[in-house]
Amino acid sequence: MRQIGVNNLKPGMVLGRPIYDQNYRKLLAEGTKIDPLSVQRIREMGFYYVYILESGTESIQVEDLIGIEARKVSSQALNQIALFDTDTVARDRMRRTGISQEREPGLDLETKRTVNRAIKLMVNDVTRVRRPVYFPGVHLADNQIINHSTNVAILSLLIGLGFTLERDDMMLLAKAALYHDLGKLRLDPDLASVHPLDRTEAQRDMYLMHPQMGAILLERDPTINIHITMAVLQHHEKQDGSGFPSGMKGSGEMPKANRESRGTIHRFAEIIAVADYFDNLVSGKIERELFTPIEAVEEIVRRTPSWFNEHITQMAMSVINTLPEGSNVEILESSTHYEYVGYRGVVSKVNPENLNRPTVTLLYDKFHERLEEPVAVDFADDYRLKVDFLYDL
Ligand SMILES: [Fe+2]
Ligand SMILES: [Fe+2]
Repeated sequence: MRQIGVNNLKPGMVLGRPIYDQNYRKLLAEGTKIDPLSVQRIREMGFYYVYILESGTESIQVEDLIGIEARKVSSQALNQIALFDTDTVARDRMRRTGISQEREPGLDLETKRTVNRAIKLMVNDVTRVRRPVYFPGVHLADNQIINHSTNVAILSLLIGLGFTLERDDMMLLAKAALYHDLGKLRLDPDLASVHPLDRTEAQRDMYLMHPQMGAILLERDPTINIHITMAVLQHHEKQDGSGFPSGMKGSGEMPKANRESRGTIHRFAEIIAVADYFDNLVSGKIERELFTPIEAVEEIVRRTPSWFNEHITQMAMSVINTLPEGSNVEILESSTHYEYVGYRGVVSKVNPENLNRPTVTLLYDKFHERLEEPVAVDFADDYRLKVDFLYDL
């Protein structure tokens, strides 16, 4: 199978992976031949790309890093966070305890239970895979924060795993990542759906407050670990002090386990900052255009060490697979197979030794003519390989 941009999706094409709605109910199964109505429906749902089965790409497998169950529970948790009604929570508490709540109470028990289930599933899935690599999943436009927070949690966990964080720390990191934009969810539902470049002045001010808003909500709950609250509060701080809300600086040190941050940005916040920026770049939240995973990593490197901790950037580079199986590429430069420069094809096998040098099944020649037979080329030894990531062939 291979990726295809939804604009190029045509009736008659066969889906390689199922399509789920925002509640992770299967709408269209893998193997479904798409009819004109489904094409329209998929476009309206806001997908940027889907996977199709195409001749020459039959053997290419695309596997998600975390299971659909973990994604589903995570999405449920975030929906509950977004929708919980603080008045009801306050009234419930008053009925149970007889004490009226003057301030807005923290999260309700039900939500916290779902969050705990979600992070347990996620940490299990992420630590179980032998070769932890991340690639951006399919995003839903009308459900952005939900997917965003899950993606940020997964990538943060992979970076944490790279630094061999203990399981307890991994759970805290995942929870902090799921909660990182809690303040945004609670401030104004519109804030989440408006593109950052289209925010009104009031929305911009509100945006600058979202780390504190999130932290305030969490602080009110004595069961929430202080490290989570600190990470949520500091996830927009930058290494050189140019971030918000406090303008605190980073230590530039390796995010070791059990290290107190002492006046510098919390290590969880530093990890979440990189994961957050990456997901925002590839989902078109920084510029209007989507950054390809390759461009997004380059952009993060460009912002390091001024914005991001360089140890974390390094780790992110080693866990983000910018050329996952099923992605479309054009060969730009090659030392071992220069005859294929200009050819286009699909990544058919990731090279675990070097994520940037996969095996590519070439389907089109340099004149964009379809090859009679696909050619699988292993670029493992190609030290000069340069490819362009294409949303479509
Ligand atoms: Fe944020
Ligand atoms: Fe975010």
